[in-house]
Amino acid sequence: MFESLQPVPADPILKLAVMHREDPNPNKVDLGLGVYKDEQGHTPIMRAVAAAEKRLLDMEDTKTYVGMAGWARYNELVAEVVLGDNNAYAAAGRLAIAQTPGGTGALRVVCDFINAVKPGAKVWCGKPTWANHHALIQAAGLELAEYPYFDPATHSVDFDAMMATLEAEAQAGDLVLVHGCCHNPSGADLNIDQWQALGELAQAKGLIPYVDIAYQGMGAGMEEDAAGLRLVAGMVDEMVIASSCSKNFGLYRERTGTAIIITKDADTAAMAQGQMNGVIRGNYSMPPSHGALVVQTILDDAELKADWLAELGEVRERIARLRKQLVQALQDAGVEQDFSFIERQNGMFSFLGVNKDQVDTLVNEHSCYMVGSSRINVAGLNDNNMAYFAKAVASVL
Ligand code: LMR
Repeated sequence: MFESLQPVPADPILKLAVMHREDPNPNKVDLGLGVYKDEQGHTPIMRAVAAAEKRLLDMEDTKTYVGMAGWARYNELVAEVVLGDNNAYAAAGRLAIAQTPGGTGALRVVCDFINAVKPGAKVWCGKPTWANHHALIQAAGLELAEYPYFDPATHSVDFDAMMATLEAEAQAGDLVLVHGCCHNPSGADLNIDQWQALGELAQAKGLIPYVDIAYQGMGAGMEEDAAGLRLVAGMVDEMVIASSCSKNFGLYRERTGTAIIITKDADTAAMAQGQMNGVIRGNYSMPPSHGALVVQTILDDAELKADWLAELGEVRERIARLRKQLVQALQDAGVEQDFSFIERQNGMFSFLGVNKDQVDTLVNEHSCYMVGSSRINVAGLNDNNMAYFAKAVASVL
């Protein structure tokens, strides 16, 4: 049967890490894969994570199974992180939650859950969105549709076009996938008035908001980054959320995420939990334990939590500083084009806004690795490579 296999193109994002690793150029710059890097170009283990891991090593006395939805306490704590402390949904029993293998696992569990409830349901994705959204939605058997999101001419959200498309074409029961914050790949987020308008549209048309919040805390702050999501959650009966601890806890390889389903009442939530557990059982049975225990240990300990928040604040400030420095470095390299939009965007990503040929030149001739769309991970910049990168960009413009 394997004669029918065809070569599959490498993943457009993950392949960049390999290309960078194999490039012997000492000046190479890695702005590809979305992982945070410090000034030394290293992705550190956060202080609170290392401390929690030490504790766990001393305390853990079994490796028996955890259960399909993972650790209940972790789920409770992450629901507070995402929806707010003492949120009304948890109090009313309106949540079904599962700890998942990463944010990607959460997205897939949510998609499988939706497909079990409403086979072939339509999910509206912004254009552009994280490339893997398409694969995940389609692999689950759902129908993919697109709404316009980013306008390259203004380097910002084309909210009128987004709303006009959803208003005209989306139907009751369709899902609308939006990024909670730090839009991947554009760095252009909805403002709070736009979230409000989106919530009103969802309410009026019976659309179900599907929020992917993979970068909470990397934009304006843990609470600020969830403000839009929380606003919309308060306006609708039903909503689905995929959250990730990969970036804000730096737990990438520990695959730590959470699928959250908000239902209109507690009875429905209990059935949603059963359905979600069922799709998990039929897929990977239960999630890995370690990353979730680390997060739980941190969030349940005032001192570790404060240290984690402080370090996350340092990360956030560094990213904001790099954005400013890049705009300045491009000017210093003689670029006349206005790149000030980079400073206005959030999180790790921005589109440089150069074309595919220019990206190819940056990658192949300057060893500056970025996604083909010209998405750069700003966190890959540092004092050592900033001027080199700016010069390379100047040379292709
Ligand atoms: C990214 O967009 O680079 C990250 O979310 C990592 C990934 O899995 O693609």
